[in-house]
Amino acid sequence: MQRDYGHEAFVQGCGGKGTTDLNKKRLNAGCFLFPQFFGAAAQQLILEEIRAVIEEAPFFTPRMPRTGKPFSVAMTNCGPLGWVSDKDGGYRYESVHPETGRAWPPIPSPLHDAWARLTGFAQPPQACLVNYYSRGAKLGLHRDEDEKDFSAPIMSVSLGDSAIFKLGGLKRRDPVESIELHTGDVLIMGDESRLRYHGISRVLAGTSSLLDEGGRINLTLRYVE
Ligand code: SIN
Ligand code: FE2
Repeated sequence: MQRDYGHEAFVQGCGGKGTTDLNKKRLNAGCFLFPQFFGAAAQQLILEEIRAVIEEAPFFTPRMPRTGKPFSVAMTNCGPLGWVSDKDGGYRYESVHPETGRAWPPIPSPLHDAWARLTGFAQPPQACLVNYYSRGAKLGLHRDEDEKDFSAPIMSVSLGDSAIFKLGGLKRRDPVESIELHTGDVLIMGDESRLRYHGISRVLAGTSSLLDEGGRINLTLRYVE
């Protein structure tokens, strides 16, 4: 497994001149929040494209390795690879949906464009995990470490209700801070922050009217191998 924290293109693209005109908050080395990067019209457009993704690749319930305990977050993917998890196979990337056996639909172009602009990474994203948090859903503290290549940052897009995002350190027991993520926000975790622990402790019901059904969609884009 390659652990490369010093990606120059990332540092230039994310921390440097490519994004100085944007509203940007540095949370940690390599970790940046772009509040409202996507305005209302862009959010609507991305949502329409993600609804088409869900139609083609319906949400499934991932299960924890070994115990088989279901996640409270429903998931699907778009892009050449999709993140899946089940009792026997564990966390991994697959090129087809676990239930339909079909290839994942492509990643919508506005997400490709945002990736190019905000990560500065030369290659396009290979996986876009679509998480849906209905009332009460949460995601425990974890690191994104199922990828073979850590030189690319992770890009996360929030749509719908606001959520409390927990941002920890490189060790599980490190102190954790709480950051509120709102619809349209983009969070980048790269460089020294690529393997930080993170999770979602709570979704704040009724804080956005973007999703008719309520809840929150999160899109996590990654370069895998
Ligand atoms: C994740 O870590 O996979 C999702 C984080 C989020 O929902 O904001
Ligand atoms: Fe994650």
